[in-house]
Amino acid sequence: MELVIFDLDGVIVSTDKYHYEAWKSLADEHSLLFSHEINSMLRGVSRAECLKIILDVNGRVVSSVDSSKMLLKKNTIYQDKLHALSKNDILPGFLKLLNDLKVNNIPVAIGSSSRNTPLILKKIGLDRSFDTVVDGNCIDNSKPHPEVFLKCAEQLGKNPLKCVVYEDAIAGVDAGIAAGMMVIGVGTEKLTGVHKMVKTLENESYEIINNLYKEVFEV
Ligand code: BG6
Ligand code: MG
Repeated sequence: MELVIFDLDGVIVSTDKYHYEAWKSLADEHSLLFSHEINSMLRGVSRAECLKIILDVNGRVVSSVDSSKMLLKKNTIYQDKLHALSKNDILPGFLKLLNDLKVNNIPVAIGSSSRNTPLILKKIGLDRSFDTVVDGNCIDNSKPHPEVFLKCAEQLGKNPLKCVVYEDAIAGVDAGIAAGMMVIGVGTEKLTGVHKMVKTLENESYEIINNLYKEVFEV
């Protein structure tokens, strides 16, 4: 095992509530139905894909000009909410795991669909903590396409088959599997295809990840 890649939203920090509130506010403004169920379909996918999903569910078609305006509005509302983020929003267990990986000389990366990754990392004080950050600003294909994770491996000169991904969303799990990586699911949502599921990162360590990696890939 040579590289651990973390998704950001839902793995390192919980921004789900802010995404929900921003989409809900946009949806209300345009008389579109939006619910927690629809919100859960948006995890891991790019902002533009999210809007397409919301419009599809509502059977609504909009021009590309209107779509751009809606995306901008959603992001303005979302970024306003992000200003409340701080180190206290880092999810339980992450900092301990990060430190353990560093002590064991394992490089760490971020593989996120979010274009707000640099802003979020700065707000939570982790903007200098990763060996590489690949986010929505650097990719052409959103998860479940494997591009984001393959780029992390490529940038650090690692074999994708020797990488481990932590993900909370089905689109991200599918991306990690498609990249040939070992995938650990985080959270309480059912994630099909993961090599292991944990509710939080609290009990994770280099040793636990490495032992699982050996079981899965080195039999
Ligand atoms: C992912 C979230 O991390 O980023 C998605 O899980 C979100 O819900 C996507 O749509 C894009 O985020 P942003 O910050 O670029 O709008
Ligand atoms: Mg996520």
